[in-house]
Amino acid sequence: MSNKFSTFICQNCGSETSQYFGRCVNCNEWNTIVEERKNTRFKTTSVNKKSKLFNEIEIGNISRFTSGFKEFDRVLGGGIVPGSIVLLGGEPGIGKSTIVLQSAGNISLNEKVLYITAEESLEQLKIRWERLNQSSLDLKIYAETNLSLIIEEIKRIKPCFAIIDSIQAINNDEMESSPGSVSQVRTCSSELQNLAKEKNIALLIIGHVTKDGALAGPKTLEHLVDVVLNFEGDNIASHRLLRSVKNRFGSTFEIGIFEMLENGLREVNNPSSIFTNKENISGVTTTITNEGSRPFAVDIQALVNKTFYNNPRRTTTGISINRLHQILAVIEKHVGFKLSEYDCYIATGGGFEINDTSSDLGVAISILSSLKNIPPLKNCAFIGELGLSGQVRQASNLRAKIDEAIRLGIKNILVPKITSEIKDSFQKNIQIKEISNINEAIDYAFKK
Ligand code: TYD
Ligand code: MG
Repeated sequence: MSNKFSTFICQNCGSETSQYFGRCVNCNEWNTIVEERKNTRFKTTSVNKKSKLFNEIEIGNISRFTSGFKEFDRVLGGGIVPGSIVLLGGEPGIGKSTIVLQSAGNISLNEKVLYITAEESLEQLKIRWERLNQSSLDLKIYAETNLSLIIEEIKRIKPCFAIIDSIQAINNDEMESSPGSVSQVRTCSSELQNLAKEKNIALLIIGHVTKDGALAGPKTLEHLVDVVLNFEGDNIASHRLLRSVKNRFGSTFEIGIFEMLENGLREVNNPSSIFTNKENISGVTTTITNEGSRPFAVDIQALVNKTFYNNPRRTTTGISINRLHQILAVIEKHVGFKLSEYDCYIATGGGFEINDTSSDLGVAISILSSLKNIPPLKNCAFIGELGLSGQVRQASNLRAKIDEAIRLGIKNILVPKITSEIKDSFQKNIQIKEISNINEAIDYAFKK
């Protein structure tokens, strides 16, 4: 029976209702509504603060400390900010505990670090630790699930950096609902947050994601924290990507790339090498894509076959299917191939997810190369967005992309129009070919 002390919360999206429904009215998931008791004792902070004018507000220097991984630091915007709250999400088994334990080990060489493990025992963590070949002797570990005991221990140790692994396993015994439920996750996080802000402790909270990719108790947690990171990749391939989804202290476009090895995660400093093969075969081109501030090379593979279906098959790995449909339409209209008679499959190197539209030209040339069964021009990078009328449009961060292509030893670079200043700044032995539409690109890519 519901009463004025209970509320009904969807365990998938976190929306609240005053009565039970079989299906959540917000996210339409079935059987996700659970009755939870309201927490009637909300704490308010009563520090006497006055409103201020901007010129009365002083900004102190943000002094960050390093996580021990360059890739991790870059995604955070240059390191960990003292007193900030970071939420690290990812599927179970992706490597969240591993990256955080390695990082905690590194940080503890200089700072006081407390790792709170609510999922694994001390022995299990020690086994993992030995596997990671860490040298620090000063990392403090605390295995506990009870929120008040955790808070006491944090107050006692006074760390500079604390880790909660994971928020779903922590239990506030003042509440009736089970650990992992939305209201538990919400109150545990906000109590930990208050503590971290009060004591200026940087706090990293690990959270598991639900099947549709949302953090459990999702929106409720995301607005509480300063930084939201996602750790992604598939369990089969060894590459892992760290993406920032929200960052109050830096850009949200950055990604960090790691490789999961026998003895933990290793950062990949030269990502171009893992997403390209440098083979010159039909259906494969190389493009330079941008993720955050960093450009790197990725292969685009296409397979185009005569179809046996009424509706030709189109599938993509790494680029959006809508983008493919658009590129196929541009080729049909402006190059004059009847692609409706062909199936078309696109896959990026390593399945790397490309969000940069300047890969369009690479996709188009791969498709045509597979269709004609002719390899495109050797040692060539294709950069440019395809407009609907077949024109090649500007690419973001073009200068850095050309630099990256040159660094990789690529000799021919197809780009949209560039200023003569940029053009003159490159060495003469590199062919930077400016093109204005898809047909020029085809002529150049398949010239005899
Ligand atoms: P883990 O960090 O426990 O994942 P999460 O905390 O996100 O659930 O990572 C578990 C996986 O990583 C496990 O399948 C084994 C693999 N792994 C390695 O390949 N090498 C290693 O050195 C470690 C510690 C784990
Ligand atoms: Mg874990």
